[in-house]
Amino acid sequence: MRRGLFVTGTDTGVGKTVVSAALLVRYGGELPLRYWKPIQTGVPPDDDTAEVRRLAAGSGAEVADGGVRLPDPVSPHLAAARAGETIDLDPLVARPAGEPDARWIVEGAGGLLVPINRFALMADLIGRLELAAVVAARSTLGTINHTLLTLEALRARSLPVAGVVMVGDPDRDNREAITRYGRVDVLGELPRLDPLTPEALAAWVRTGLDPGGRLRRWLA
Ligand SMILES: Nc1ncnc2c1ncn2[C@@H]1O[C@H](COP(=O)(O)OP(=O)(O)O)[C@@H](O)[C@H]1O
Ligand SMILES: [Mg+2]
Repeated sequence: MRRGLFVTGTDTGVGKTVVSAALLVRYGGELPLRYWKPIQTGVPPDDDTAEVRRLAAGSGAEVADGGVRLPDPVSPHLAAARAGETIDLDPLVARPAGEPDARWIVEGAGGLLVPINRFALMADLIGRLELAAVVAARSTLGTINHTLLTLEALRARSLPVAGVVMVGDPDRDNREAITRYGRVDVLGELPRLDPLTPEALAAWVRTGLDPGGRLRRWLA
């Protein structure tokens, strides 16, 4: 395994970018973390790299640029096809492999089984990057099924699961169900922050994200 984490989610728009920034804030001061978004669709206006730079400013972590950038706000396979391109996994895998001392925090696009090209899904990229997965999940109704499906799909591919971060109004019943039926650590419950500022995120991270330090196993 490579040291680092791949932040995937149960869906698009669940909070992967905010969770990625929170991870940088949590561990960027003690470990050489480097965020990277290898595939971004909907450019512009979508720019997770810029949002992570904003939210994790002062964390000490690096934010890498570069990767596949596509204009249509759709699945990578489709955005690439519409741009007359095919996404090749090899250069995306080569980048972290070429800088093994960094602890890469890689954010996916969409969920786990989003297609990247005619053959590969996001899960295949995770496997080739050799990173453990953090799953960003909604806290609200519907999350148990989506989260358990995502965990099952990760395990069916022998992809290590580092934990789940729930985003939205904390829901103890949903957290307990995911922990129990998913046999997984819920590493934090990130409430809606309004406004979503670096200060508000950092204040939550101090007590709310991985208080037991379990992610060090994958990062240190
Ligand atoms: N804890 C939060 N508080 C406030 N807004 C949030 C929070 N988490 C996510 N959001 C907002 O919800 C939207 C989706 O979150 P994002 O992290 O971009 O999801 P994803 O990366 O999975 O697509 C964004 O507009 C983001 O700012
Ligand atoms: Mg995102």
